[in-house]
Amino acid sequence: MSVSPSHAHVPTPLSAVRGQALNGRFRPPGDKSISHRAFLFGLLTCGETPIEGLLEGDDVLRTGKACEALGAAVERLAPGRWRVRGPGLGSLPPPRATLDFGNAGTGSRLMMGVVGGHGITATFDGDASLRKRPMNRILDPLKRMGAEVLSQAEGGRCPITLKGARDPSPILYRTPVASAQIKSAVLLAGLNARGVTTVIETEASRDHTEKMLAHFGAEVRVTTEGEGRRIDLVGRPELRPSPVVVPADPSSAAFPIVAALIVPGSDIVVEGVMMNPLRTGLITTLREMEADIDILDRRIEGGEEVADLRVRASALRAVDVPAARAPSMIDEYPILAVAAAFASGTTRMRGLHELRVKESNRLAAVAAGLAAAGVAHAIEGDDLVVEGGGPPKGGGLVATHMDHRIAMSFLVMGLASREPMAVDDTAMIATSFPEFRPAMERLSATFE
Ligand code: S3P
Repeated sequence: MSVSPSHAHVPTPLSAVRGQALNGRFRPPGDKSISHRAFLFGLLTCGETPIEGLLEGDDVLRTGKACEALGAAVERLAPGRWRVRGPGLGSLPPPRATLDFGNAGTGSRLMMGVVGGHGITATFDGDASLRKRPMNRILDPLKRMGAEVLSQAEGGRCPITLKGARDPSPILYRTPVASAQIKSAVLLAGLNARGVTTVIETEASRDHTEKMLAHFGAEVRVTTEGEGRRIDLVGRPELRPSPVVVPADPSSAAFPIVAALIVPGSDIVVEGVMMNPLRTGLITTLREMEADIDILDRRIEGGEEVADLRVRASALRAVDVPAARAPSMIDEYPILAVAAAFASGTTRMRGLHELRVKESNRLAAVAAGLAAAGVAHAIEGDDLVVEGGGPPKGGGLVATHMDHRIAMSFLVMGLASREPMAVDDTAMIATSFPEFRPAMERLSATFE
């Protein structure tokens, strides 16, 4: 691999200051979820998988490195254009060193599924944030499929040494929380099982794994069950090499979108944003808040619906966000909390328990950031309540706890708060949106 993830974590503080209106057009980087999966499917497919529009963020590059350690040839042909030549399903060699996933929860958990379904042993590790994240939710179903955990840190945390099942058992698994990571780990392990692996989720989570399984020729059936879904996957398919085109990441698009809504006079176009309905909860919510967002030129790119979003500064109104919407906007609550601080009235976001186990405890980190900005708020059970009004005072320093989305959210707030907002560290932004600062500066944002 010619591009490597960065290893030294040097904390880099930054402030955002109120400035002129945002203007211009901009295409967010490739979707992080699909980029991880593009590498993993390349690994599991014997032959050549071309990828277009890959997110070259640290998290995804870690997954690329791990795929190399498991026998894939991973090559960068041009910016965003990659080619993976995999050994294919059932033929993965054991890695010689620890798989270091850095900050990447998705990469590590999905790869645990891959290893769990192969008769190889691998050690998974990552940075201080990843080492705090719960992995039993992945290890439990993998153990039922025959994998063994040889060692782990307290409470099922990294570093974890996992011995995969040579002949994994197909299982029927009901995910205990709506999580695409759990669902995907079970399906990826089930790929190498004889028979049908079934995952049932009571609330639908992002469906990129199912879509890519079908795209690579696996026999997968998805049926809707109320609010949830049942996925049946026939194991041991002959995966056929297939090109992957990665659409722009709606979770990264969220930052310039909210920035344009709160900075007076702004008018921007965010191009090529993936509009998969399991990812667009934020757009739905912002439009309920009377955000001026026009959805233009809906089209299909790489098997996903995409659109250009024209966003103009808006007088936002508070909303009540139902818990059922959480899976479709799970990574967008920090930036929604920023939008809510500018909206008139009291916004309640319900059912946010999963935010406690993201790259940081995002519920606590968002609350602390709002406090630093002088925004009245409360955590009531699993709900976050934000008292909006005019532009918040700002002027605070936000602790980001190695969480890229906390850093970007409060920098966006600083573009419109009365006093600048500072974050203690922007280094982690490179995990998902390496071009965040220059891209925002091209739209006229001011950082110092
Ligand atoms: C992801 C699923 C979500 C999300 C994460 C990416 C994925 O996590 O928060 O950023 O690509 O499958 P959960 O599935 O744990 O909710």
